[in-house]
Amino acid sequence: MRSAASVLGLQVSLLQSGMGGVAGSELACAVSNAGAAGCVGGYKLVGGALSAILARLTAGTDRPVGVNLIPEVVGPEELDRQVAQVLDETPSRVHLSFFGMPDDSVFDRVNVAGRQVVVQVGSVQDGVHAAGRGAVVVAQGTEAGGHLLGTSRRDDLVGALRTLLPDACLVASGGIGSPEEAARALAAGADGVLLGTAFVVAHQSRAHAGFKSAVTAADRTDTVITDVYEIGWPGRRHRVLATAATADPGLPAKFIGRTVVEGKPYLVPRFSAAVPTEATSGRIEEMALYCGRSCSEINEEVSAADVVAAFARVLPGAEPVKTNERAESHVG
Ligand SMILES: Cc1cc2nc3c(=O)[nH]c(=O)nc-3n(C[C@H](O)[C@H](O)[C@H](O)COP(=O)(O)O)c2cc1C
Repeated sequence: MRSAASVLGLQVSLLQSGMGGVAGSELACAVSNAGAAGCVGGYKLVGGALSAILARLTAGTDRPVGVNLIPEVVGPEELDRQVAQVLDETPSRVHLSFFGMPDDSVFDRVNVAGRQVVVQVGSVQDGVHAAGRGAVVVAQGTEAGGHLLGTSRRDDLVGALRTLLPDACLVASGGIGSPEEAARALAAGADGVLLGTAFVVAHQSRAHAGFKSAVTAADRTDTVITDVYEIGWPGRRHRVLATAATADPGLPAKFIGRTVVEGKPYLVPRFSAAVPTEATSGRIEEMALYCGRSCSEINEEVSAADVVAAFARVLPGAEPVKTNERAESHVG
């Protein structure tokens, strides 16, 4: 077992999920500057829009930080373009994080470039494959907010993967809203944790104010697993706060709002997969309010550094270099 902190060069084995729309450079840099792994959501950004966020990311922190991409949303060709841009436009301390498995050619390309890969998986099979390719494996349970990669509970998946992969760096994700819950995931075999919903409500998150207050007010029984928010990302179930749209999927898919992404305006249809951000207006309460069962323990808006400090109490840091390794490094 190697702590996530050691593998990624962090002070604490905590990863912030790169959440499309919500996790911009402000959140990612604040998390990394606090000693954990921040991550921007790349989602469908490419070209100038992706370059803009990468430039802000690398200007805002000189610590290890990540860029999250979603293979199934963009397809292999667009993913190749996104990966090439990240590799070309960022320094080596920037890792690539994927939601779901990319093709083996993507692992090869990122490994050859000397970058760390982080992959979130929902099955034992994918976890074993990703570990074999040198990735930090994030095991996502069905407690998670957002899109769901599998059907297992978090600690069942963590435990199964730990048995098969005693030496892999394994991070637990889904339903972690308190240090006590993080400690349970470590006891199941994880080397660190990844948090999504806990960072939605951070001051530096770009989530719409109405989305943040709905998360802090909610408990786990207010969340549902559904497939209704499929416009823009079809075919994958997701955990959200229950809304009028989840209650009645037969409502017309008409426009219910407007938003702006990297300077470009868009209309938001009901059932869009896009989260409401600070640039969104309209019927926020009917939009995709992705939220994990962790919301029961998330009751106030706080700064990203406070989230990191609270969890640092229970999470491993970087292992000290062993005396004989230090001696060896002086030889020659
Ligand atoms: C608002 C929101 C947006 C998300 N967007 C992404 C994303 O763009 N990419 C990704 O890898 N995971 C995304 N996720 C899923 C997280 O990576 C993770 O599985 C989940 O947040 C863990 O559960 P928790 O929310 O209870 O901490 C998102 C989660 C939330 C809550």
